[in-house]
Amino acid sequence: MKKIVVLTGAGISAESGISTFRDADGLWEKYRVEDVATHEAYERNPAMVLDFYNQKRRQLFSAQPNEAHRQLVRLEERYEVVIVTQNIDNLHERAGSSHVLHLHGELTKARSDVNPDLIIEIGNRDIHMGDLAPDGTQLRPHIVWFGEAVPNIEPAAAICSNADILIVIGTSLAVYPAAGLISYVPPQADCYVVDPKEVPTRRKVTFLRDVATRGVAKLVNQLMQ
Ligand code: APR
Repeated sequence: MKKIVVLTGAGISAESGISTFRDADGLWEKYRVEDVATHEAYERNPAMVLDFYNQKRRQLFSAQPNEAHRQLVRLEERYEVVIVTQNIDNLHERAGSSHVLHLHGELTKARSDVNPDLIIEIGNRDIHMGDLAPDGTQLRPHIVWFGEAVPNIEPAAAICSNADILIVIGTSLAVYPAAGLISYVPPQADCYVVDPKEVPTRRKVTFLRDVATRGVAKLVNQLMQ
């Protein structure tokens, strides 16, 4: 079976009602990264940071996977598919994708503040001040904040280096090291990008300039023929 790696970003969940980061009206126009998405912010005002992610988690559980998430599941009938996502939502899993690697963490998990490997499932529950990890430290969201290491980048790079086909969906490729994963994909692999806006990739790609629901459906139909 040929191997497909799908690199997704916020754009694939936009049509599920979850806002992107850098589009007009995106999350980073409403909040400052330094206020909610760094460890320094968490040290300064943990309650506010917890509340920010509690709100995002509630929003996630009122959202549903869209046609783009669902179409990617179809690919598993003909290909080995691994989804490498920058998203912290669980919409790929809820659509039914079997192999999803999260680069930037997951809203449905929390972890110890001192041991990044001590991770627990919280599902749709809020995290409050005083909620403790098994090691007795305050629970924090299992989110990779700006300035923190990205533990899944090495497995993601290994997955990319075995790809026969790469599909990039709904990411501005503005954030490293995630954006650098494309350079691990072998030069002979076919690359497709689905995005309503032009995205710089530094390699030859077939560009489907469309929203994810339409663009992914079109591409999956083509790949399933
Ligand atoms: N369908 C497909 N793509 C879309 C859609 C849509 N309906 N709407 C917007 N997009 C595209 C935009 O054109 C843009 O290229 O999605 C991309 C969103 O880019 P960003 O907001 O930068 O999101 P992303 O690339 O996922 O950000 C990467 O930055 O702040 C961090 O940790 C956060 O994981 C995130 C990382």
